[in-house]
This record gives sequence, C-alpha cells and structure tokens, in this order.
Amino acid sequence: MNLTELNRIATAMVAPGKGILAADESSGTIKKRFDAIGVESTESNRRDYREMLFRSREAMSQYISGVILYDETIWQDAKDGTPLVKLIEQSGAIPGIKVDEGTQALPMCPGELVTVGLDKLAERLRKYYERGARFAKWRAVIDIGSGIPSMTAIGVNAHALARYAALCQAAQIVPIVEPEVLMDGDHDIDRCYEVTTRVLNKTFQELRVQRVALEGMVLKPNMAISGKKCAKQAPVEEVAEKTIRLLKACVPAAVPGIAFLSGGQSDEEATAHLNAMHKLGPLPWGLTFSYGRALQAAPQKAWSGKAENVAAGQNAFSHRARMNGLASKGEWQS
Ligand code: 13P
Repeated sequence: MNLTELNRIATAMVAPGKGILAADESSGTIKKRFDAIGVESTESNRRDYREMLFRSREAMSQYISGVILYDETIWQDAKDGTPLVKLIEQSGAIPGIKVDEGTQALPMCPGELVTVGLDKLAERLRKYYERGARFAKWRAVIDIGSGIPSMTAIGVNAHALARYAALCQAAQIVPIVEPEVLMDGDHDIDRCYEVTTRVLNKTFQELRVQRVALEGMVLKPNMAISGKKCAKQAPVEEVAEKTIRLLKACVPAAVPGIAFLSGGQSDEEATAHLNAMHKLGPLPWGLTFSYGRALQAAPQKAWSGKAENVAAGQNAFSHRARMNGLASKGEWQS
C-alpha cells in the first residue's frame, strides 16, 4: 500500500471549491428516478443521462472532484465509443466505484439491515482499479425508530465498513466510508445527534482495530438533522453547529476529508447546511459534498429524457455544482 498516494487522492477528493458527484444509483434506484420524469430505464437511456452529466464541462472541470459510478456505468462507453471513465478523467475528475451489493435483513434484529458484498471484493477491486477507479464507496444504512438502532446493527455494519476499507487500501483504492443514519423518521435533531455519535464512534473503533490508515480514507456521513417527519425542523444554523460539534467529537483530524450525503434534503437545504458549517471554521478536515439527489434532481427534470434538452440538463447540473462548490468554501449566498 502506498499511503502517500492514497492521501493525495483523498485530499484531492475534498479540495476546496470541489466535491463529489454520487452517480452510483443502482438499477432499481435509477428506475425510480427515471419513473418520476417519465423516462424508461433502459441501458442506453441510463448511458445517455450519465454521459450528459459527465460532459457538463463547467461542472466537471471546476466543481466536481470525483464521480461515484455504479458497476454498469464503469464498463459503459459514450455514444462515440469513448469509455465514460475516460470522459471523467479528461475533465480532471477522479473516477470512483460503489462496491457494496446493497442491504439484507439482519437476522434477529427486526427492521434492521446489514450491507453485503465482501465476498470476492478483493478481486473486484483489482478489476475496477485497472479500469481507472481510484476510490470506492460502501454504504451502511442505520434506521432510527422505536428501539432501534440496536448495538448489533451498528456493530456488524461498522465491522463490514472496516473490512471493506482495509481491502480497498490493500488494492490502492481510497475507501469512502459511508455509515448513513437515515433522516426518514419523526425523530428530532438531538436523537439523530445521539445515534450518529454512536455509529461514528463504533465505525472508527472498527477502522482502528482493522488497521485502516485514516490518512487514506474519506468519511461520508449524514448531517445532524431533524427527521423528515419531525414536527420541529431544526434551522440551518442549528444543523451546522450540531453537525460540526458532533464531527469534531468523533472524527480524528488524521482523516483528510468529510463529504456529506444529502439523504433527502432539498437541493437548497443541502447547499445552505454545508455553507453554514464553513462559517464555523477553521475545521480540521476538508469538508464538502458527495451528493446524489441534491445534485441530480434539477438536471433530471430539465433533461426529461429528450436529446434536445441536453444543454438545459447540463446547465442545471452546472448550476447546482457551482452552488455547492461555493458552499464548500462558505461563499454561497442564497
Ligand atoms: P444522496 O445525496 O441522494 O443521499 O446520495 C448520496 C449517496 O451516495 C448515498 O449513498
């Protein structure tokens, strides 16, 4: 393992003014997104859509440091035969790959999930590296509800995240470690804070036990935020203040970067929260976005599957990328 090189890539992923495009929706998830805009989820439509994003010159060259791909996409070519991975590299961004294989019900723990995909992972990582991937992503899902999460669910998911991260580093790939505490419930921000603290502490404990080099990884956490169905929605400043307090308590300064998921926040909320956090600096790590929905909802709508809308889709994507790029420096204004 070359830790200097892993650290260089991790640092580039969270460079000021830039963040990560999460374009790694599984076939099931992208179908849901396409259904919402009335587009059939065929392999060529998925290719055309993602090619549109990766050819968005302004967004990709100025505001996007890396792109997380899904397995299908990393092997796809653009219409003119150029591998999509090459389009990303040519724009100056780093290609990455989602390597978990989704979630399964966790036995003995009703309503809880464990992320799977460790079998044969070393072999898959080798192939992805050859194809150009320099970082990977694995997402654990922790739900908040009555009596959950259990320590069992937190423990097995943290263990799997650390197993994945160690395998990545051994394959010279920077792991994005993503333990997502969902914002789907009616819990308040303080409950989210408490659960996220437990999840991050356990995750870093496992990373240490399994000898993962913190200097060669990126953390992708949720923010400390009110559940979507909570009657009392915490304002932007409270989300920013509590998220930074939580991260300072749980994330060692050796970690080069933190890149948030958007998790169902509106586009503008996701931008405003990141921006407000940068007003609380200086911070010990790079702090940016790794958004899926909050970067893609607007371009999906503008494109709506029509070739004549490609420029409009690219403009919408570039706009959101620019706003989040500004937020990653605390320079965004609503
Ligand atoms: P969202 O920003 O839509 O939550 O997606 C980010 C991601 O990669 C989730 O795993």
